[in-house]
Amino acid sequence: MHAVAIVAAAGSGSRLGAALPKALVPLAGRPLVVWAVEGLLAGGVDEVVVTVPATERAAFADALPAGVRLVDGGATRTASVRAGLAAVTDPGRPAADVVLVHDAARPLTPPDVAARVLAALAAGAPAVVPVLPVVDTTVLVDDDGAVTDAVPRAPLRRVQTPQGFDRATLVAAYSALADDAELTDDAAVVRAAGVRVTTVPGDERSAKVTVPHDLTVAELAVTLGPSGTVTA
Ligand code: CTP
Ligand code: MG
Repeated sequence: MHAVAIVAAAGSGSRLGAALPKALVPLAGRPLVVWAVEGLLAGGVDEVVVTVPATERAAFADALPAGVRLVDGGATRTASVRAGLAAVTDPGRPAADVVLVHDAARPLTPPDVAARVLAALAAGAPAVVPVLPVVDTTVLVDDDGAVTDAVPRAPLRRVQTPQGFDRATLVAAYSALADDAELTDDAAVVRAAGVRVTTVPGDERSAKVTVPHDLTVAELAVTLGPSGTVTA
């Protein structure tokens, strides 16, 4: 099973507010995107395509291991993944059986998560997402912010990346999607095409770096090592 990963890294990181695009921001001295790519390769992915801001190609090429392909991203995450997918299906490349799509913004995702996603795909699932339970009481509010109802928590899950797909299924779902569609993840794209999405356990260490506090937590997790990290 030839597995190619697309790492979405073309965002600016406006909420992080760093001087660099978020994927290039260092975590323990190495850019977030480098952590993300190495985790996928350690988890069993054969090849990686990274979608980058067009103006930053040189900086990404300097940071990433040889063999990682770079593709210019788009204005939205959906557009960036679409561009990455075009590179995956390039007829000059070995055909991918499965495609994992991951966020550079999840640098500390343990390799085991990618391995679980790959195992589910190998067992025949067309689409797989890593998930975690919701631990907080979760409520609905009205326009004024007043609580109107509590949501039963048992069937709720938080969805992470890497998300895995049968390659032909993902390509068909993106082809069927309107050009200007903007969905927050890739499972939503295949679900829109009627594909069943199954789940595997995610990991708290896959947390997304969005705001500066997340980077502080990630630095601490690296400093403390496995014994200090929080698991599901
Ligand atoms: N992403 C992308 N192309 C875009 C926007 C986002 O490839 N046009 C990527 C980001 O680089 C990131 C992932 O999608 O790894 C998840 O997006 P997010 O965490 O929102 O990152 P940014 O869009 O960079 O951050 P912000 O929304 O704060 O600007
Ligand atoms: Mg964003």
